[in-house]
Amino acid sequence: MKFIIDRFDGSKNYKQAYELSLEQIKGKTLLGVLQFIKQNLDITLNFTAACRMAICGACAVRVNGHSYLACDTKMEALLAEYENPDSFTISPLNNFRVISDLVVDWEPSIENLRKIKPTITPKKEFSADKGCKQSPEQMERVKKQWDCILCGCCASECNKLGADASDYMQPFVFTHANRAAFDSRSKDAMPHLKPAVLNGLWLCVHCQECADRCPKGISAQSDITALRALAMKKGLTAGSGPGHAEAFLLDIVEGSGRLNEIKLALRSEGVFANMGKMDVAANLMAAGKMNPLHVFGGEEIEGHAGLVKMIETARKAQASGEIE
Ligand code: SF4
Ligand code: SF4
Ligand code: FES
Repeated sequence: MKFIIDRFDGSKNYKQAYELSLEQIKGKTLLGVLQFIKQNLDITLNFTAACRMAICGACAVRVNGHSYLACDTKMEALLAEYENPDSFTISPLNNFRVISDLVVDWEPSIENLRKIKPTITPKKEFSADKGCKQSPEQMERVKKQWDCILCGCCASECNKLGADASDYMQPFVFTHANRAAFDSRSKDAMPHLKPAVLNGLWLCVHCQECADRCPKGISAQSDITALRALAMKKGLTAGSGPGHAEAFLLDIVEGSGRLNEIKLALRSEGVFANMGKMDVAANLMAAGKMNPLHVFGGEEIEGHAGLVKMIETARKAQASGEIE
């Protein structure tokens, strides 16, 4: 079995192949294989790991392009997943700067974590004497987010980061903003919520890759959605993102139930911003993908009344605090 590892020595990238027998792989985790290579075949190979039990988050790498927590990935499972291939390609996490071989730079991610203020400021009623208690139900709300081990698997898969990382934070940063903002002991959600809004909260493209690859079953995408709802509730409604969400709802509730692309663009970004995109609209119309008459509304979809009722029920549940 061949392991082709993407290496970087500080100046050049190259691939290096290591051959291991099935006997040498047997019973090992992916981290075990990397350690075997370092200890027996090539001491110069660099990677990070500490706990070997899925707690520290240090050992995430990519196998055949997808992120895995190396100490939590059994080779037998990997062989089964890829149907006993002849080789695996091991690479550093995507969307991180590579320092050496499989070692990546976490400093920009830590900077982003600092921005969302991951520690909470407790409410007035708490003190060193009285403690800072919360009920099991309140703990339940943020328990999943606390499970994040900062492994970076989600960020490696993130399509928004891949397209343009200049205005977006790593998905796990939003998960930590969510944890701090929704903690019942927190005095104020705003110090966590505002930096999330200012650093790309509305730019997630909903690809779900973060949720699919998280070794702890966390959905950063759902955490982003909950933060967006909280931002709207708290009046942080400036920008095209909140306008887009409102427009979506207006079409579904007050319109025909069908998404009206023309009104959506006008409501999200306004008339002036859309004037610069007239050529795009003309191309869409020419290709039959946009009907100008739809600006007056379209035919009502089947089951529209039921859909409106469902949204009203959800709104009532939200108002009573039953859901976020
Ligand atoms: S759903 Fe959003 S945060 Fe998650 S990977 Fe896709 S773009 Fe990134
Ligand atoms: S959310 Fe999941 S994948 Fe992302 S850093 Fe945390 S544990 Fe890793
Ligand atoms: S070595 Fe700590 S999570 Fe893998």
